[in-house]
Amino acid sequence: MGRNRLLSACQETDKVLNFENFILEFDMKSHNICVVGTGYVGLVTGTCLAEIGHRVVCVDSNKSKIRYLNAGKCPIYEPGLPELLKKNRKAGRIAFVDSIKDGIQHKGRRAQVVFIAVGTPPRPDGSADLSAIEAVAADVAKRMTDYTIFVDKSTVPVETGEWVKKTIERINKRGVPYDIASNPEFLAEGSAVKDFMNPDRVVLGVSSKRAEKVLREIYAPLKGPILATDVKSAELIKHASNSFLATKISFINAVSRLCEKVGADVTDVAKGMGLDKRIGPSFLRPGIGFGGFCFPKDLEAFYWICNKKGYDFKLLQEVQAINKDQKQWALEQVSELLWNLGGKKIALWGLAFKPNTDDMRFAPSLDIVEGLKEHKVKIAAHDPVSMDNAKKVLKGLTFAKDPYAAAKGADCLILVTEWPQYKDLDLEKVRKSMRTPVFLDGRNLYDPAKMRKLGFDYRSVGRP
Ligand code: UGA
Repeated sequence: MGRNRLLSACQETDKVLNFENFILEFDMKSHNICVVGTGYVGLVTGTCLAEIGHRVVCVDSNKSKIRYLNAGKCPIYEPGLPELLKKNRKAGRIAFVDSIKDGIQHKGRRAQVVFIAVGTPPRPDGSADLSAIEAVAADVAKRMTDYTIFVDKSTVPVETGEWVKKTIERINKRGVPYDIASNPEFLAEGSAVKDFMNPDRVVLGVSSKRAEKVLREIYAPLKGPILATDVKSAELIKHASNSFLATKISFINAVSRLCEKVGADVTDVAKGMGLDKRIGPSFLRPGIGFGGFCFPKDLEAFYWICNKKGYDFKLLQEVQAINKDQKQWALEQVSELLWNLGGKKIALWGLAFKPNTDDMRFAPSLDIVEGLKEHKVKIAAHDPVSMDNAKKVLKGLTFAKDPYAAAKGADCLILVTEWPQYKDLDLEKVRKSMRTPVFLDGRNLYDPAKMRKLGFDYRSVGRP
């Protein structure tokens, strides 16, 4: 009965932050968990596991990050996360340490489950760098004293679990029992807490019934179906899912190009397609390309592992090529609209790879700025939250204090990231302040008819 109450509570997504009340009434088994890596995935996973009642110790070798977390601060911009962190620290369910030794043995409690959520950055050849995964597996294997489950949370190529197993075997001379598992994370930045608490599915790639039982217990408080499978299939589910979502985006972006050529409206085309339940409406928003630290690198890594295994998954290369083209398309539009670019001022609204995040990794804005700089234009940019991060990676442009200041005196304004607050601006004031009112809406945020009525020379993606 307790579980049913909990599940219906979770159905109301806004009640995520009141989870604790329901846990207390729910006869769940609380586990001691160690989460290694406090990036987006690790920190959100650790915090949410604590929120659903487990005792979590998060580990990161970055000592200053651990000090920051122990001071009660949240190192990433993620809606809802600071509140959950604060609440679970106060409740004593989450702690932060800088070594695996302290993570798996904390205050007399041993973590039976270790989630590995360290970075798997791309190497120059497109493959994922798995050295951090190996190092964590080795460190834990060296220290484990009793049955331990090594759960991979990071996005990894298929057969990583096999390598983790080999690594443990080499070290585990005393024969301490263990299992390996794959539990890919599907949360998206900007809605990570909500995604974790309300999963479409929880995938458990397991190598034994024992591990499956423990992992099922850990996730029992969450609604959403649990799919238990083997480790390799779970690893593939993650890469295949991200690649498929990226394919949907590139597909609609390609369709948007045809729409432009024939005068059709891609919004209606996407809507018409999405009404078919087999296709679905999500990830059919056209724009100036996808970015972030997941799709671009996961497509590369998936292509690489497919090739390594003897299958040339050409479709994935085309998905990337279309994505690259979209950014080029934006630059071409600016040239077409302004003729000569040299000495002109371009304003950019939005720099983060998508709204509700301060993440600049693989953001389309990076390519747009690089492309514009080749034409020796002056660039003024604004973003509501990613400006500090943007300043570290973007040089040679002005960062404006607000969107109006960015637009002032501009010859062209490009909407790069569709922050909702840009929708409510005084666009009349913006147009009047520009030198020439040319507007390239890279995310189809505005209504073309209204923008033209306001006096903008307005262009968007795949719409007449
Ligand atoms: C993505 C997946 O959505 C998550 O399920 C996954 O867990 C995560 O990667 C990961 O592997 O860690 P994320 O990269 O945070 O999440 O962001 P998305 O919301 O998927 O957006 C990715 C990019 O696609 C953004 O640049 C966004 O602007 C773009 N996008 C998205 C479009 O251009 N059109 C769309 O219709 C949707």
